[in-house]
Amino acid sequence: MPQYPPEPFRIKSVEHVGNISRKERERALKAAGYNVFGLRSDQIFIDLLTDSGTGAMSDRQWAAMMRGDESYAGASSYYRLKEAIDKIFGFKFFVPTHQGRAAENILCSQLVTPGVYVPNNMHFDTTQGNILARGGRPENLVIDEAADPSNPHPFKGNMDIEKLEAFIARVGAENIPLGMITITNNAGGGQPVSLENMHQVSEVYHTHGIPFFIDACRFAENAYFIKMREKKYKRRSILEITQETFGLSDGATMSAKKDAIVNIGGFLAMNDEELFQGVSNELILREGFPTYGGLAGRDLDAIAVGLWEGMDEAYLEYRIGQTAYLAACLREVGIPIIEPPGGHAVYIDAGRMFPHIPKEQFPGQALAVELYLEGGIRGVELGSVMFSQVDPESGETRHPPLELVRLAIPRRVYTQAHLDTIADVVARVKKRGKKVRGYRFTYAPKLLRHFTARFEPV
Ligand code: F0G
Repeated sequence: MPQYPPEPFRIKSVEHVGNISRKERERALKAAGYNVFGLRSDQIFIDLLTDSGTGAMSDRQWAAMMRGDESYAGASSYYRLKEAIDKIFGFKFFVPTHQGRAAENILCSQLVTPGVYVPNNMHFDTTQGNILARGGRPENLVIDEAADPSNPHPFKGNMDIEKLEAFIARVGAENIPLGMITITNNAGGGQPVSLENMHQVSEVYHTHGIPFFIDACRFAENAYFIKMREKKYKRRSILEITQETFGLSDGATMSAKKDAIVNIGGFLAMNDEELFQGVSNELILREGFPTYGGLAGRDLDAIAVGLWEGMDEAYLEYRIGQTAYLAACLREVGIPIIEPPGGHAVYIDAGRMFPHIPKEQFPGQALAVELYLEGGIRGVELGSVMFSQVDPESGETRHPPLELVRLAIPRRVYTQAHLDTIADVVARVKKRGKKVRGYRFTYAPKLLRHFTARFEPV
């Protein structure tokens, strides 16, 4: 029997969830154009769409919110957040933003111009979208092991240093206004990046004069993996590992909706003063004054507390242990998943689960639909619906290497029985085998199409 780690908290407040019938789910799904993003939350039993903004805040965070200072400029909430960000990340400047993609947008407004390139281990969809929207070219240079779901490499989020060197040589450092790395690598399975790799990435970028930005969404989960898997850091605290990580970089974008365990918020941090001035001006135009950046003062206080809670080792042991538990349960019933499981989610290899469905008919989309119909569970497709790109030169469609469905685990929300139920539902879907059909678009927008696309069964 897989081990379930006891929660390092007890439950003080609960939220009711209902469970509608299969007939009602069928109707709801059809009305949503077979896109689970179009469902209403009260039509869902267990919502694993995302770990973003769906965590349960602690009593301390709620208490901190009561201290929220809603002054337009110079609120004390801002200074409490500043203290936390200074201590944890150590950047010279930061601005709050309403979430991660706002930080990406503001950063891209300053650095990305048509035709430039932005390398990353793997861009998340909003990062990719923000770069493309300004005419830039996102490039993914993760190690090849990332594309092999059964490869047990401990740091499958690592950047391929040789590919990075070759890429810079090919397009020219002068055409790369910034280089990134995403921790953990969400688009590639929530896989961690080692500190050794980040040292190398930092050196390569800096040798070529390229500013290095970290997509920091899940920095604490990444630090925990480093502590567990990278010998050199076994005795280092999560804070020390985090400080070393960000000390290598020139800035970061952060969606606080992940490892800061809040329902909304983010920030953009950097060391370059001139960049900070440009960022502040753009922020005032788009988000708000630099001491609140599109958030309420109380949100800033919740982030300031949540950043520390997200780094607590007992919490991280439970958090990563919960993901590992779900992975173990799925493994037991023969479901192909990305190994080893990542930090915030278990990724089912829908391509392997449904080999009879071609990429053009979206095996991940098919699995997402079945999980909902079978058990009211909402996961998200991370495959050809989300990531296919039309090559600007050849006009060809480039499919991502894997067709995945992500079961993201909200922080401090679901219990062992929920996870057992999920494994049970996935096992029942697997039994349906070849009866499961693919899907085609009836509507698809150009950018970030997975959110609003509509489908019909093939
Ligand atoms: N970067 C990564 C790696 C992310 O996972 C996300 C969000 C963002 C940036 C954007 O942050 O949502 O606050 O604007 N990921 C969520 C998810 C949506 O479900 O994985 P945001």
